[in-house]
Amino acid sequence: MSDKPPRYASWTAGKLPLPELLEMKRRGEKIVMVTAYDAPSARLADAAGVDLILVGDSSGMVVHGRESTVPVTLEEILSMTQWAARGAKRPIVIADMPFGSYETSNELAITNAVRLVKEGGADAVKLERGGTSIDRAKAIVDAGIPVMGHVGLTPQTATVLGGFKAQGRTAGRAQQLIEDALGLQEAGCFAIVLEAVPPPVAHAATHALAVPTIGIGAGADTDGQVLVWHDMLGFYEGHAPRFVKRYAELGEVIVEALGRYAEDVRSGAFPEEQHTYAMPEEELEAFRALSGAR
Ligand code: KIV
Repeated sequence: MSDKPPRYASWTAGKLPLPELLEMKRRGEKIVMVTAYDAPSARLADAAGVDLILVGDSSGMVVHGRESTVPVTLEEILSMTQWAARGAKRPIVIADMPFGSYETSNELAITNAVRLVKEGGADAVKLERGGTSIDRAKAIVDAGIPVMGHVGLTPQTATVLGGFKAQGRTAGRAQQLIEDALGLQEAGCFAIVLEAVPPPVAHAATHALAVPTIGIGAGADTDGQVLVWHDMLGFYEGHAPRFVKRYAELGEVIVEALGRYAEDVRSGAFPEEQHTYAMPEEELEAFRALSGAR
């Protein structure tokens, strides 16, 4: 096996094997996950040593400009998964199952999960909530597809939860959240996202579960972290949740670059000769003779 590049906590040549995530939890190595929705972003995440790429339905808001993730369709996630899977060689690519693609029956859930893997090139799928989603997760796992669970703030059902707000903030709700996570583990999920839950609840879930927890707005005591690409890189215009840390202000970089481009076009400073194609002198002469051009 080749030497481990320094950017990876855990290194295997080629695709990161799924069981390695359990080993990382056991060794106390943090798992790094980020969303990506196209090939160049997935390639950059891979180059940065990210372990898991989520083709999240957050794309509905940060890429497609919607108010929520609810209207996102399977076809949209399918296309974006194809793009991301082409760019990600080492990271495990997880396709989010959008709202409406798994709730009504195990059959529907399996059919759509199979499409995301077979047509989309996903390595695994993710679905939200405990309750009936535990049955759906089990059915998909039984069909041979790895499933990631997601509890706490589940944006697909934010209306029922009273909006985009932290979950598990009463003793009873916190206990229910951990029971849901245990149910998803029992169903065969290989990891569970904990979104917007108080750190002591995330800590308890992380210790109660054998499978890794991936936190977002859940404090530091989870087995890994996930952030949304556009939030962390600073080119989402909407209101970013308090748990987001901005690692770059790419929106500002892009506006500044586009502004210089516009200026150059208007002043004639772009394009220069180096941006053009030459033509053999004799062909140019012949062309001028033919067309009468000067
Ligand atoms: O859709 C998404 O990006 C997600 C993450 C926030 C976990 O579900």
